[in-house]
Amino acid sequence: MTAAMLDATAQRFRLSDLVELAESASHTLESLRAKMLEPHPRKRAPTFTGAQLAALCGIDPSQIRYLAGRGDLPAGTHEGAGKRRYFTLADTRAWIAKLSSIPPRPPGARAATIAVVNFKGGSTKTTAAFNLAQGLTLRGRKVLLVDLDPQGSATTLTGMLPAAEVLEEHTVGPITYPPLESAPKDLSYAIQPTYWDGLDIIPAAPALYNAEILLPMHSRDSKIKWWDILNAAIDPHRDQYDVIVFDTAPALSYLTVNAVIASDGLVMPIPPENLDFASSVAFWNLLSETLTALKENKRYDKDFAFMRVLLSKVPGKSAAASIVKDWIIRTYGRYALPVEIPRSEVTSVGALQFGSVYDIDRYDGAAKTYAKVRDAFDKFVEMIDQSIMSSIWHIGERKAERREVAPSHA
Ligand SMILES: Nc1ncnc2c1ncn2[C@@H]1O[C@H](COP(=O)(O)OP(=O)(O)O)[C@@H](O)[C@H]1O
Ligand SMILES: [Mg+2]
Repeated sequence: MTAAMLDATAQRFRLSDLVELAESASHTLESLRAKMLEPHPRKRAPTFTGAQLAALCGIDPSQIRYLAGRGDLPAGTHEGAGKRRYFTLADTRAWIAKLSSIPPRPPGARAATIAVVNFKGGSTKTTAAFNLAQGLTLRGRKVLLVDLDPQGSATTLTGMLPAAEVLEEHTVGPITYPPLESAPKDLSYAIQPTYWDGLDIIPAAPALYNAEILLPMHSRDSKIKWWDILNAAIDPHRDQYDVIVFDTAPALSYLTVNAVIASDGLVMPIPPENLDFASSVAFWNLLSETLTALKENKRYDKDFAFMRVLLSKVPGKSAAASIVKDWIIRTYGRYALPVEIPRSEVTSVGALQFGSVYDIDRYDGAAKTYAKVRDAFDKFVEMIDQSIMSSIWHIGERKAERREVAPSHA
């Protein structure tokens, strides 16, 4: 096709063209999704080998056979006689619950709530939120992921198609419907299980944009605490989960302010690029203005248990990136986590398949690269979990003792 032809056909973009394009693009996405999720219509969690299971439980692999034969733990399945043993995610989580030395949420302690924030799209908020949620389930936590971005990327990662499958009444939207007296008082109506054992989701869809119209309306009524609507609705669920993760839109929108206020801790991923760094600074400025204004009006005062900055999508060799990385570390000092997520195809490929590093059970090809990225996410998850245990659940430094020790059968 010549440039002249392209100009002539692409000049007008009528509403009917728009409608047609939207329909055909949705159709393409639908078949792409079906293809990527083949042969199962839905996403499937990976299976775990004995060695992976042992690592997650913190036990010696040689104990697996004995423990699997004891009868009080799922025994897993063999692919053939004398072949390796495999465990489903649910089996694996049952083992973790019984054997891991990671302290559980203490009796009476409530779910830790965490918002993943940054102004800029593409700063890996959704990737960080989703991997954090999945990674925490592999540490024995029960997690609720709340998608607050109308674009619904986190929802997509659970195998759902936001535009096609998620209606406004499946999202947090209804808690903002006027009159608030008759709006839902909790979010039970919106919680859905996912393909991933231990991970529930409240999905998002484009219709969630309505909340950004309704919340400003409420904000004009001085009797309404518009910033506390999500916090109030999530409260009943703080006994049901160990951790609640909010994935937010790339804006300090009314919903994002609600998420921040409902959160005990904040996580901000920042790729080492000028624009991402600048957005992070703009975010803190606007947030501090917003929270200071609320405080000065004697309406609200907010402290956070922790705030952590995660360097993400860090390229291997780039002079420009290491300069920005230095700014980030210098600016955020003690808030910057001592781990960085490398920029890697593994993450991108995962995203293409609507997946994450935790979705991949056997990564053929670049096993070393995969291990490096996976290891970085594991460290990130562990550090956030440690912040939860120390700053929110106040679990002392007591030495984690094994709950159970099995004789070794080498
Ligand atoms: N470590 C990484 N290396 C390479 N690409 C990444 C990495 N982490 C995320 N990405 C990709 O960057 C893009 C933006 O990430 P996303 O999590 O959707 O950002 P946000 O939610 O802030 O908009 C996605 O295509 C994602 O797959
Ligand atoms: Mg996102």
